[in-house]
Amino acid sequence: MDEISDRLGAAQLPAAERQAILKKLIINHDRLVEGVEALSRFHMPVKGGIHDTGCVSAIVGDSRTGKSFAASAYARRYPPVPGEKGMILPVLLVETAPTGGLRPVLENLANALGMLQSPRMNNALLTNNILEGLRYHQVQLLIFDEFQDVCDSRNVRLAVDVKRLLRKILNLDALNIVCIGLPETYEILANDKQLVGRGGLQHAHLHPYTWDSQEERMSFRLLCEKFDEGMPFQEKSGLGSASVAQRLHWVSDGIIGKLKNFLFQAGCLAINDGCEHVTFEHLAMAYSAIKPPKTIFNPFVDDWSQRPTEQSDLPLSSAQHALSKRSVAHA
Ligand SMILES: Nc1ncnc2c1ncn2[C@@H]1O[C@H](COP(=O)(O)OP(=O)(O)OP(=O)(O)O)[C@@H](O)[C@H]1O
Ligand SMILES: [Mg+2]
Repeated sequence: MDEISDRLGAAQLPAAERQAILKKLIINHDRLVEGVEALSRFHMPVKGGIHDTGCVSAIVGDSRTGKSFAASAYARRYPPVPGEKGMILPVLLVETAPTGGLRPVLENLANALGMLQSPRMNNALLTNNILEGLRYHQVQLLIFDEFQDVCDSRNVRLAVDVKRLLRKILNLDALNIVCIGLPETYEILANDKQLVGRGGLQHAHLHPYTWDSQEERMSFRLLCEKFDEGMPFQEKSGLGSASVAQRLHWVSDGIIGKLKNFLFQAGCLAINDGCEHVTFEHLAMAYSAIKPPKTIFNPFVDDWSQRPTEQSDLPLSSAQHALSKRSVAHA
């Protein structure tokens, strides 16, 4: 089925199914491609070649920019396969743990490797078992997500322990490591000469979409257009048009996670109304529901030229001037 008949078919489904489609919409957009391509480079620097070993890399970006989503998408390309000795786990995705020191980090790793562990095992033994497990399961790429959790300056000890663990894993010279996290993750790794020495610390930054260049605007409009195509409505809602996309950019800061939440909420309102597509009214209501308390401007109701901006080069009423979007959102 093509996209149009998919959408038309979806529009006829019961409300619960339409809701589920909205919730689970997956969009193949530029930043996802960037994230997956970076992981692919860090895993196998030569396309069609073999996996690299002994290097650490990073993927960083603001919250909700799609880092974890890209990592899961990449890991799904390399599912576990049975080998001669046991399961081969080419790409292992592990979350670090924010509290409890090194132990929960080790436990998460051990769990991802399907290892039996007991509380009586000390950290040194558990670490050795993990190193053996990584070799045994022929792990090629180990991805640590939420890496900023182990980089908290209030817990220096944990960061030191985790970096020592990374070095031990890299010293196996059997696999590469990618650390994913908020922008500060890069600094933490970059400050460790021994880690940087292991591969030069290649990195990719998943930025929010901006509205500053023609190219970025087109990428963001395409993202909105793809959402529009995937939403379960009889008719398209014009989300990719310049004027709607610009407003969607304003409410989402160009961040995929925020955009998805927003369109989900607007889509739910449109389903409830029995509408054939999402209207400006639904977008306006969805924004009212998330609007920071002191914000007056609603981009789907008010004159766009009156929008509060960071720069003061636009005609603003004095009240709105005081309430620039950023200062309100972060107040
Ligand atoms: N390609 C996509 N299509 C649809 N939804 C997406 C896509 N990428 C991300 N999302 C949604 O955006 C939200 C944020 O994505 P994700 O969790 O990957 O962000 P993140 O960068 O890991 O954020 P954090 O730093 O807060 O962990 C999630 O709800 C996810 O489902
Ligand atoms: Mg994440």
